[in-house]
Amino acid sequence: LRIAVLVSGSGSNLQVLIDAMQAGALPIEIVGVISNREDAYAITRAKDADIPVAVLSHVASGKRMGIKTFESHASAQLTTWQPDLIVLAGFMRVLSAGFIDNTPAPMINLHPALLPAYKGLDTHQRVIQAGERQHGCSIHVVTAELDAGAVLTQAWLEVHQKDTADSLQTRVQKLEHQLLPWTILLLAKGVLSLNNEQLLNQQRTC
Ligand code: GRF
Repeated sequence: LRIAVLVSGSGSNLQVLIDAMQAGALPIEIVGVISNREDAYAITRAKDADIPVAVLSHVASGKRMGIKTFESHASAQLTTWQPDLIVLAGFMRVLSAGFIDNTPAPMINLHPALLPAYKGLDTHQRVIQAGERQHGCSIHVVTAELDAGAVLTQAWLEVHQKDTADSLQTRVQKLEHQLLPWTILLLAKGVLSLNNEQLLNQQRTC
């Protein structure tokens, strides 16, 4: 499975995929990484693994790159790499419907909450404030509506009394590091399919 990964930050999830690829634990080839931030540590991780990187910084030369410009560069890059799957792993820029509907491969996103609960930002803080007993992470199909596409997989944990937003972030991230490679393995083996009718219907009604 040829995979392109979009990142904005530390890239710990990208690192898990790199490690699994290098160990032969996942039948994937990471064909390229796109970062929308030039200071993302994920860029170093990709370069260290000799993976092509496109830095499409949204604040290049002091000027914010508009979403249209970002998307046209990203599209061209993805078309060159020809991935079978595009993975948003800690990618923090909202993409337009036009881009999402026209990507050269299906796109999945890792979200730090048990969707459909807690879409959007600051999920750990909101989970604490609401006094939730359970929390976790989800991998879902990316559709034009934010964090609303069909959920493919989830992993959950119990929220402890002493948890803070920071401790939850650490604990959820450990789950993400298991959920992401596992989900990609299921997709690579065809156990999970992104093209079946049921999933597409679910996407429409979500
Ligand atoms: C993850 O917690 C993800 O859920 C959130 O951003 C974080 C990315 O972490 N959207 P990393 O860049 O993979 O280390």
